[in-house]
Amino acid sequence: MADTDDIQQAKYYHHDVPQTNATFALKGAGSLDWGMQNRLARVFRPSSGRTVMLAIDHGYFLGPTTGLERPDVDIVPLLGEIDALFCTRGILRSVIPAASAVPVVLRASGGPSILRELSNEEIAVDMEDALRLNTCGVGVQLFVGTENESKTIHNMTRLVDAGLRYGVPVLGVTAVGKDMVRDARYFRLATRIAAELGAQMVKTYYVDEGFETITAACPVPIVMAGGKKLPELEALTMAHRAVQQGAAGVDMGRNIFQSEAPLAMLKAVNATVHDNLPPAQALELFETLRHAQA
Ligand code: R5P
Repeated sequence: MADTDDIQQAKYYHHDVPQTNATFALKGAGSLDWGMQNRLARVFRPSSGRTVMLAIDHGYFLGPTTGLERPDVDIVPLLGEIDALFCTRGILRSVIPAASAVPVVLRASGGPSILRELSNEEIAVDMEDALRLNTCGVGVQLFVGTENESKTIHNMTRLVDAGLRYGVPVLGVTAVGKDMVRDARYFRLATRIAAELGAQMVKTYYVDEGFETITAACPVPIVMAGGKKLPELEALTMAHRAVQQGAAGVDMGRNIFQSEAPLAMLKAVNATVHDNLPPAQALELFETLRHAQA
């Protein structure tokens, strides 16, 4: 028989409220384990379901490329404006403040320099080290259509297996060989392969025609890589179109850190990605912030 206290406190048990157990509403993430959903929810802002990831991993094959000569001076001040940082473990340990709350996606493949065949990559980070670094994901390059296609896809599937063991999502990055056509047909193929073989998120380039078919056919979130430096209006237009056509954000590098005002550019990209600001207004925001900083 229930005692008087239990009866009086029955309201605290909320008998009339069914228990909830919400999954993170990110494309394809509903069946993932709690740790992986939690990491993805740190990379993709739950309020918009999108991310502004800053890619600064270029040194892993390019060395100190323009804008990344001194990441301690030029990149660290940007960390408060991004949802996640895509970088190597070398830069993470040597430059990024450990007290920084920025979620990190770790570059986990590499090997060849710009002087050699780039597709000849290996896994370059052990999952145990990725966990030691408290990362929210690892990124690996896929060279679909090149002589090293199977090898790089196998790199990814090994990381996916290790990631599933520990709850770390994998970002499959669709790299393009020098002579390959960059069209929707190619990126549909490469992104779908990455997702089919287990990547929980995929990074790919924007194409002017049919980008929405790439995002539609990929069952996990796609983030757009920026590519070579463009005038700010073009880069903002590309980011705007990508998210309007189904991308879950961007993982941009050169169009931010090679801009003459990286912080202003980052804020403009943020407004584009998270608030759907149209390109002309995003450029206006960039110009206003750039002049205010000057
Ligand atoms: C990919 O291979 C690179 O390592 C970068 O992460 C990627 O290309 C994104 O940077 P960007 O926007 O400069 O192309």
